[in-house]
Amino acid sequence: MTQKQIDESVAYLTKRGFETPEIGIVLGTGLGELVNMIEDPTEAHYNHIPYFPLATVEFHTGKLIYGTIEGKKVVVMQGRFHLYEGYDFLDITYPIRVMHQLGIKKLFVSNAAGAINLDFKKGDIMLIEDHINLQSGSPLAFKNVGKFGNRFVDMSEPYDLEMRNKIEAIAVRENISFQKGVYASVVGPQLETKAEYRMLKIIGADAVGMSTVPEVIVANHLRLPIVAVSVLTDECDPKNLEPVDVQEILKIAGQAEPKMIKLFKELIKEL
Ligand code: HPA
Repeated sequence: MTQKQIDESVAYLTKRGFETPEIGIVLGTGLGELVNMIEDPTEAHYNHIPYFPLATVEFHTGKLIYGTIEGKKVVVMQGRFHLYEGYDFLDITYPIRVMHQLGIKKLFVSNAAGAINLDFKKGDIMLIEDHINLQSGSPLAFKNVGKFGNRFVDMSEPYDLEMRNKIEAIAVRENISFQKGVYASVVGPQLETKAEYRMLKIIGADAVGMSTVPEVIVANHLRLPIVAVSVLTDECDPKNLEPVDVQEILKIAGQAEPKMIKLFKELIKEL
């Protein structure tokens, strides 16, 4: 990754009208409906944006959409890149650097995740307060990272407190079943064993998923305030573990999605 590549990606998008978006949004697996809220949308397919990783994603259509939500200019990633698809840490976080250079001032991230905390139920929304990186790598471990910012990025409060407080207030006001907790990221694509779910609980995770943490690390590198929510799609109870069905995960994500959309829409209004 070089600054010149980012410049070329940004130039391509700017030419197509992606002018100074204020907010970037990453939509997780099964969570694409928010794009229907975008007014005056302009699309750019990942495969057409110079230096973007080539999209091979099964569950996503893979495009960047620019437009307006609640009167604010947004750029939305419909579909993200995952380590489990064979991309590396630089690939999956490249779009975050591009959106940052386009001018976003805040980043919203969503994902589908399994509930490790058994007080949480599938269909609940979990605001991520902190994370555990179990993906055995970092999007900042590359040779010329110093050209892009600090190497030793502070992670004492990686999720923006002001936006977290706003989201919590919105959830209470709107009566949305809402949890807060720690997200652990794994590579996947295989789901976890019972022993792994027991371990995740012991080390303090409330939810587990296969994304988000690399994007959050890069947002912190860029000093870009970020807020992230998980849609809990399955309950990871090692004592009663049912075989995980990906179709079921997608179905639950779709059912809970309106709550996530409501939270993001109201948050956009308040920023
Ligand atoms: N584990 C990992 N990733 C997931 C899960 C899970 O149980 N559910 C949704 N994404």
